[in-house]
Amino acid sequence: MRIGRKNSRFMAMMMMLTMAAGSLSGCGSQKPESTNTEVLQEQADSSETTTNAGGETESDEPQPLDKSLYMDASKDVEERVEALLSMMTLEEKAAQMLQPEQSAINLKEISEYGIGSVLSGGGSAPLSGNTVDDWQAHVNEIKQAALDSRLGIPILYGIDAVHGNNNVYAATVYPHNIGLGAADDEELVEKIGAAVAEEVRATGIQWTFAPTLANPQNEMWGRTYEGFGEDADYVAKMGAAYIRGFQGDKDSAEYLDDKHVLATAKHFLGEGYTTAGMNQGNVKMDEEAFETLLREQLVLPYQAAIDAGVRTVMASYNSVNGLKMHENGYLLTDVLKGDLGFSGFVISDYNAVQQVSGSNYREKIVNSVNAGVDMLMEVTSWKECMDEIVAAVNEGSISRERIDDAVRRILRVKFEAGLFEEEISGTTENSLKEIYGGDEHRALARQAVSESLVLLKNDKIGEKTAMEILAESKNILVAGSKADDIGVQCGGWTISWQGSTGNITEGTTILQGLQNAAGDDVTIEYSKDGEVNAGNDAVLVVIGENPYVETSGDRKPSNLTIMGSDKKVLDTIKETAKAAGKEDIPVIALMLAGRPVTIANQIEDFDGLVMAWLPGTEGDGVADVLLGDKEFRGTLKYTWTWDAQDIADKFADGNEDKILFKKGSGLKKDGSSISPDGTVTIGKKPE
Ligand code: BGC
Ligand code: BGC
Repeated sequence: MRIGRKNSRFMAMMMMLTMAAGSLSGCGSQKPESTNTEVLQEQADSSETTTNAGGETESDEPQPLDKSLYMDASKDVEERVEALLSMMTLEEKAAQMLQPEQSAINLKEISEYGIGSVLSGGGSAPLSGNTVDDWQAHVNEIKQAALDSRLGIPILYGIDAVHGNNNVYAATVYPHNIGLGAADDEELVEKIGAAVAEEVRATGIQWTFAPTLANPQNEMWGRTYEGFGEDADYVAKMGAAYIRGFQGDKDSAEYLDDKHVLATAKHFLGEGYTTAGMNQGNVKMDEEAFETLLREQLVLPYQAAIDAGVRTVMASYNSVNGLKMHENGYLLTDVLKGDLGFSGFVISDYNAVQQVSGSNYREKIVNSVNAGVDMLMEVTSWKECMDEIVAAVNEGSISRERIDDAVRRILRVKFEAGLFEEEISGTTENSLKEIYGGDEHRALARQAVSESLVLLKNDKIGEKTAMEILAESKNILVAGSKADDIGVQCGGWTISWQGSTGNITEGTTILQGLQNAAGDDVTIEYSKDGEVNAGNDAVLVVIGENPYVETSGDRKPSNLTIMGSDKKVLDTIKETAKAAGKEDIPVIALMLAGRPVTIANQIEDFDGLVMAWLPGTEGDGVADVLLGDKEFRGTLKYTWTWDAQDIADKFADGNEDKILFKKGSGLKKDGSSISPDGTVTIGKKPE
């Protein structure tokens, strides 16, 4: 308990004044109009009840406050929830249901209303700066403001720590999920989840919006890299491992302790199946076929997440047969909360409530809440949203039961996560700052990078394979600017929402990693443009995609190709190798990309091809395999077509000749395959 009695009375009075002002302007709850604080105080004391349009009776005046009834940690969670709920006004309940963006609300407002949650959107850092100390100070101020509210309900702070605490400068950044999927190492993913949780907790934040549980079917989708693979059962396995890491094992004492964070299973549901892979698009499917897909595939990752103890689920922007997921009561309520037995809460996506049907904001809110959205990520319009929830209840379009259900779920999760016992700037939090971005986490990320590499081509040149020749080379030319670019290798969701090229955070580039690993007798030369000289005896050219997220990553088949600047480097390599009389040295391509990219016109020129995905800050992990003792272990979890125009039909029978690399592909340095069916046979390029 942070506030004294006097203070809490003052807050109660403030609250009543606010409500009275609300009812005067016609949008508050139904109470006698008065601005006389003494009259209001009397009403509060007599706990007068009001009747709403739905005919139910409930008091909206602040109830006599006895915090001991819910602050007693020895009590059962459900008991604490009910005790607290019974002391809340409708306004306070609505406030718990909101999640503004941190930059769109101030401390006073947080205390005044008792806001349930805030988020930092992609790249939304504290005003003071972007170091771990800036974040910790900022988050803890917000936490304190929530404790200063009448009820003192702790606030939940959420952030997209999707591959590390990636918004914060100098955090350890891990491979995006597509790379972790390729590594196929549950234990590793679990360890990463735990390490990410520690770096999030170092900033005071208790909730990450991860992992994504999509199983993308169409890599034209800009979020393909957020998925572990194209198969739902595989995603279920990896997603559950990540959740165990973030939250701690459900059956252990570590579960949701102060070293762990709440995870989010997102985005529910069907996002990887939209037409043409369009972000926020529509899943168009015969109802019966959808029902089969739902039961046999789509629910698997969510069921596994719930079994692993996930307590929050984020609804998806996409629609299913024209109906926005945020207003799909069948899927959010009947399936998720009913059939799958989810007892945590559903959070809406960023302003997504504004996209559902309804002729005005209130109708959109009503449709979302009635469908099953419990907490609304209404980032700037949170105040209006709060008022509309209250008004909707008073006009009877949202029932009080539904509000209580939503708030009960939110409070339940807060109690379970130990928020009511949380110490601001506690010992654990401060000790975690010491290991933030430190050697231990970076070593783990480096391991993940090396495990995620997938070798897709490894031609024999004479007696040896391209990779063997590279490892023995005394003079390696590293080509292309992407070889020395932390921003590119991290991809989207790094420091800023979209991510960007360049020196955006601390880490080791691919080039630096190779330089670190090369023996004294080995020269690593670097040419951005790809100029081969007579001294080189192997070329490693780094190509791929520049950072993007969400819709900006959506592609058409015609532009899911390698970039023009990369093509130019490849041309230069060819020309200069010829001029230098070095046409026979191996050219090995290393691709940094969030998905399979069309390389039909380049593949023949490569003696080797390594898919490195979006590996994050620890470029040393690449050199550990290419120049070191580590063997490749990654395999493709996506089907890679010759041409992106064939993606839509890639799973259809009879289209095998349109596939460049089948799922499961992955080679070793000697050219043999990792799994029995992982051999790569590059067929004829289709016409
Ligand atoms: C994304 C979510 C993310 C949220 C908060 C949305 O645009 O779809 O994945 O968690 O923003 O940043
Ligand atoms: C935020 C992201 C969010 C996106 C949604 C951006 O401004 O930083 O977190 O996902 O908006 O459109």
